[in-house]
Amino acid sequence: MSRERTYIMVKPDGVERGLVGEIIKRFEQKGYKLQALQALQPSRQHLEQHYGDLKDKPFFPKLVDYMLSGPVVGMVWEGKDVVRVGRVMLGATNPLASAPGTIRGDYAIDVGKNICHGSDSVENAEKEIALWFPNGTLQYTRSVDKLIYE
Ligand code: TYD
Repeated sequence: MSRERTYIMVKPDGVERGLVGEIIKRFEQKGYKLQALQALQPSRQHLEQHYGDLKDKPFFPKLVDYMLSGPVVGMVWEGKDVVRVGRVMLGATNPLASAPGTIRGDYAIDVGKNICHGSDSVENAEKEIALWFPNGTLQYTRSVDKLIYE
């Protein structure tokens, strides 16, 4: 079975709006396995590293300021195709283009307040997990996997 992992982060607006449980619930109910979870107030330097690929974009300063506006909740989820499927569950970057039933489609309107982050490739997921969880994540086996995977 694939050991693919993704980094999902509830952004400050999602935390303040009380959507942490809703986002965890969706990944849990899908069948993905939680490997790590933390609430923290990241530094500017940490966020600039996380969003390093976007540093030349015009929205970058506003994005970092928004991400600094309150605590975030980061998590690592493991499972089959979880990077791609996690992005589908989050919805399109711009919530006005996100399908109903997705997290952004159901709970957000503006791109600059889109509630959640999800890694966009397996390679970036591993980089983000190393950045946010430098002490590693939990490894464990779940008996329920036999009811989820064929
Ligand atoms: P990006 O990595 O392109 O999207 P995603 O989060 O879906 O991987 O952009 C990172 C964040 O930057 C995005 O979640 C919201 C913000 N952003 C803006 O504020 N304005 C924009 O025009 C874009 C494209 C993104």
